[in-house]
Amino acid sequence: MADNTWSRRHIISLEDFTTNDYQTILQTATSFREVLSRRTKKVPALQGQVITNLFFEPSTRTRSSFELAAKRLSADILNFSPSNSSLKKGETILDTAKTYLAMGTNLMVIRHQQAGVPTIIAQEMDRINSGVGILNAGDGQHAHPSQALLDLFTICSSLDKTNPNISLLKGKKVVIVGDILHSRVARSNIWSLTTCGADVHLVAPPTLLPKHFLEAFSQPPKTGKTDESMGNLYLHWQLAPALENADFVMALRLQHERMSEHLLPSLREYHQQFGITRERLNACKPTVKIMHPGPTNRGVELTSDLMDDPHLSLVPMQVTSGVATRMALLYLIGGMQ
Ligand code: CP
Repeated sequence: MADNTWSRRHIISLEDFTTNDYQTILQTATSFREVLSRRTKKVPALQGQVITNLFFEPSTRTRSSFELAAKRLSADILNFSPSNSSLKKGETILDTAKTYLAMGTNLMVIRHQQAGVPTIIAQEMDRINSGVGILNAGDGQHAHPSQALLDLFTICSSLDKTNPNISLLKGKKVVIVGDILHSRVARSNIWSLTTCGADVHLVAPPTLLPKHFLEAFSQPPKTGKTDESMGNLYLHWQLAPALENADFVMALRLQHERMSEHLLPSLREYHQQFGITRERLNACKPTVKIMHPGPTNRGVELTSDLMDDPHLSLVPMQVTSGVATRMALLYLIGGMQ
């Protein structure tokens, strides 16, 4: 399964990822999904390597699936938990990372509430020529690359399970609805999905999707009346036009603090205007699928029955895809050691 085209030691953001990178990840994840379907779901690919999960912020899905992925690859896994660590005694994050380096860590998976922490650790690891690879597992509002990559794998697999590849995305309409402004998941998905050829439509109240949001992704937007567009990225402030003929609808978690920040009147009102319901999905393609990175506020971002509908919901598949996708990432970066 060795891949000679992969040259990245770290995955911090998807901003500079190429279609070749995405294709390599999809192919590798497909191979590992086959491994996970076997009776013995383990391969010796990273035997002897040490992977450390450094999660400074809570997580269920990302942390557990990186841990399971590491175990399926036969690596040794260390789990750092800040609440009972020497951070409490004043140790710095960099010294914490260097402590795990001194124990023989080869790969670090890092989540932090502050954007930029995985970058700073990666720069320090490179400066001291440690050879350690860094995977960003979510930093502030900046990036959540492994989530976007498992979303890509999920979307492509739902279109063609045996050969999920980026050409399937050409002309597909993916709607992302919710707190776009504060979402690292949205940012990473915008990079991956637009690069792979999908039409990405963002929709939210103006407080959660300001016009200037597009500027981060390329040139300033053209002016328009009810929506804005740039390349294959579109902005909407009303749900109905965004949902028209959609192939995939990805709802994002709404954080409760947005109410206290006066960015939203109430969760109830948000649901009335932007919540995904069965009735609203009538505007989409008959084959539409719904997604959510989790954790979900049932009855706010989408109705509870939709989330549990096996014909419509890709949410469980996203979680399952996370293990094969993260095995692919650990394997590809592990091969750079
Ligand atoms: N999607 C996601 O990052 O979930 P967790 O916070 O549970 O890892």
